[in-house]
Amino acid sequence: MNRYDSAVLRSFLEEKGHRWTDDVVDADLIIVNTCAVRQHAENRAIGRLEELVSLKRKQPDKKVGIIGCVAQELGEKIFKKIPTLDFVVGTDKISAIADIIDGTAERKVYTDIDEKFYGLASPPHIEDGDFSAFVTIMRGCDNFCSYCIVPYVRGRERSKPPQKIIDEIKLAAERGVVEITLLGQNVNSYRYGDIDFSKLLEMVAQIENIARIRFITNHPKDFSKKILDVVEKYRDKIPASFHLPLQSGSDKILAAMNRKYTISQYLSIVEDIYRRFPDAIITTDIIVGFPGEDENDFLQTITALNEIGFGGIFAFRYSVRNGTKAAKLKDNVPETEKIARLNEIIKLGIRLAQKYSKKQIGTIQKVLLGNISKKNPEFITSTAPSGRVVLIPRREFFKKFVDVKIEKASTWVLWGKPIIFHNKPF
Ligand code: 5AD
Ligand code: SF4
Repeated sequence: MNRYDSAVLRSFLEEKGHRWTDDVVDADLIIVNTCAVRQHAENRAIGRLEELVSLKRKQPDKKVGIIGCVAQELGEKIFKKIPTLDFVVGTDKISAIADIIDGTAERKVYTDIDEKFYGLASPPHIEDGDFSAFVTIMRGCDNFCSYCIVPYVRGRERSKPPQKIIDEIKLAAERGVVEITLLGQNVNSYRYGDIDFSKLLEMVAQIENIARIRFITNHPKDFSKKILDVVEKYRDKIPASFHLPLQSGSDKILAAMNRKYTISQYLSIVEDIYRRFPDAIITTDIIVGFPGEDENDFLQTITALNEIGFGGIFAFRYSVRNGTKAAKLKDNVPETEKIARLNEIIKLGIRLAQKYSKKQIGTIQKVLLGNISKKNPEFITSTAPSGRVVLIPRREFFKKFVDVKIEKASTWVLWGKPIIFHNKPF
């Protein structure tokens, strides 16, 4: 979400005549976009800002500002930590940056929430040669999971008008983008008039030259059969790859988290997915150490993870967020226990990811060829429909689409041999 917002801000500023530089010393203006979802992310952002404002000692004209969720959360308070910061602009007031740069702004802090704000009108910046792009389809969140700060810092859920989304994707396609990832805190609750998420997905699948469509994040309480119907109808464009955050395998903890589903409801969605798409990949998010999580709750999570056989798990240690409902609960799982549980889930996640990857050996998958791998320059990086990275020897690279036979697998990466090249999107 932040990468998308930053790409839009870049276009917005370029339209106003500003130029991008990769060099922080050279820059007249440095804007740090921030995430407040866990304390760790927040600390890193503050640390980075402290480093950047220190450049102002030698370059007093340089402006350094903060945007995003930490800006929204802390507002004025950030000046206590970083007094020489030039501006603080929250999630809905991003256009204020134009006035701040021009020197016509009346304030240094802009954090009012604007429920009608769908994002800046500028299309996101797309780098030459990019084959993949994000498109935000909604802002904010109404779910109020008890641990989560997002509804407070990003405001109420609003769905972006479908025409805006389609125009943006068409523009990206003209720039050579062939893969689109639709973004929202809960894409399954997208609704604009009578257009719901499944309808929107279908509209996107019909756009010429878009060869692959992904979407994140799903919410089990809103995930519908209608979405699976669209995935099935456009199988060659929409991979059966679902990120479906479970958070916990214990009904007691799920209720305390205000997730609004039970483990058995979650399992029935998973069953549905695997029944319709036996080769589907399902990935998930897990929080360990939520207040009240005892050994038994944790074991239920482990059982659920093994049973479902996820292709990837993103595991997090519970982090208290001020202002949330859970912040009022006693954070009663000892830190050492949280770390032990986190490590166990991470290890299990690696085992499950390896199992999924190994299963792909011998299969033939259609992949989109990307750029030369930074880590392995003799390979081209690409992505399989599941989202796994596939490395292909560089000397074989001459077309954009290719059927690849998977020959080797590590946890997150598959190695492939090209079989058939396609000139046109599949
Ligand atoms: N502590 C730990 N993890 C969190 N997440 C959201 N809020 C918190 C929190 N307070 C995790 C959830 C979510 C992912 C994006 O971040 O698992 O799905
Ligand atoms: Fe946070 Fe829950 Fe909304 Fe996701 S759905 S952004 S976890 S409140």
